[in-house]
Amino acid sequence: MNHPHGGLRIDGDRLMRRITELAAIGSIDGGGSSRLALTDEDREGRDLVATWMYDLGLEVRIDGIGNVVATRAGRIDGPAVMTGSHIDTVRSGGRYDGNLGVLAGLEAIETLIDAGVETQHPMAVAFFTDEEGARFPPDMLGSLVYVGGLGLEEALDIEGIDGSIVGDELDRIGYRGTNPCPGPAPRAFVELHIEQGPVLEAEGHAIGAVTGVQGISWTEFTITGQANHAGTTPMVLRHDAGYAAAALATHVRDIATMMEGRQVATVGRLDLQPNLVNVVAGKAILTVDLRNTDEALLLAAEADLTTFVDGLADAEGVKVETRTLARFEPVVFNDSVVETVARTAERLGHSVSRMPSGAGHDAQMMARVCPTGMVFVPSRDGISHNPAEHTDPEDLVAGGDVLLQTLLALDHDALDEGETT
Ligand code: GLV
Ligand code: MN
Ligand code: MN
Repeated sequence: MNHPHGGLRIDGDRLMRRITELAAIGSIDGGGSSRLALTDEDREGRDLVATWMYDLGLEVRIDGIGNVVATRAGRIDGPAVMTGSHIDTVRSGGRYDGNLGVLAGLEAIETLIDAGVETQHPMAVAFFTDEEGARFPPDMLGSLVYVGGLGLEEALDIEGIDGSIVGDELDRIGYRGTNPCPGPAPRAFVELHIEQGPVLEAEGHAIGAVTGVQGISWTEFTITGQANHAGTTPMVLRHDAGYAAAALATHVRDIATMMEGRQVATVGRLDLQPNLVNVVAGKAILTVDLRNTDEALLLAAEADLTTFVDGLADAEGVKVETRTLARFEPVVFNDSVVETVARTAERLGHSVSRMPSGAGHDAQMMARVCPTGMVFVPSRDGISHNPAEHTDPEDLVAGGDVLLQTLLALDHDALDEGETT
């Protein structure tokens, strides 16, 4: 379909300047950023982005879990066409993960303002609280609460890896807002994000039209054995939490390599106690992250892990406690939004790959309440959750233009409610 503003493009330099300015908050060696959710650095990043939102004259609203939504009115009142992402990072994060989607959304709205383009529906850009889940599991916490997938009170009580509590930290940084949760369902939601994987670069595509997000299963295992002397304790008499943790980690890798398809499996966190050279570890805490685009296979991987852990506990004489940190089924995005993204990118002269997302995203939560899709841009060498994360400026700007034009299309076109999961 022809759109009256089909020639409108974002200001790429302004987008790049904002990315650089935000990345300077909590900057770490190698060009990345460290802004774990609800830390002082997160507050500083929030303040900067919120100031930009206010400066554009947008209506800025903060809800009870600290999600910040900035809206520009449309010709008619009612649900907004919404974009956004997150500005929290993992501790050793890059500068584009999440930040790109928020700043490109802001840039798209500023472009509309500069050009004097009125939209039919309100346009909104959001940054959601604690997308990473690295400090406070689960991931996508803010968007999960936004869509009513978790009650606000329950979310505010979540304890972080450092013993802090979500509600206390929100108060401390001044971002416990008054807007109600769940929030209003948008007309549609589209999120621009770096791919964080190697596919677009390897295939030579500039843009990914994301078809869905794989299922995520996070479990924390606490293994209790018996701390003992490393020199005097015969091997057969040990209840070695360190050994059990290592065996579990090895098996987790085996699950992924033995299963067909795209199963991935990670032990990303491992604490041993007392963590000393000459003491058999008495306790181990480790996390397992399992992901698959196929729910049945993800369930099979979880079942395999449970059987293995039961056998391991018996064999080593250790106690194993498990805690689910996150569990989200795979999500399929709305067909008509996926096609809108793909057609828009093609119209702008880009080669497009229709692909699932390996990483979790706020869009997978928004898909529960409105037609949703995502735009991906390539990640150099597929590296992310690492300060070396990089996307070429041309690709970032191309993604911003695709986002802008997709937002306009979602404003204009009749939307097929389709199937959202
Ligand atoms: C969250 O961003 C994740 O995919 O781990
Ligand atoms: Mn992200
Ligand atoms: Mn991330």
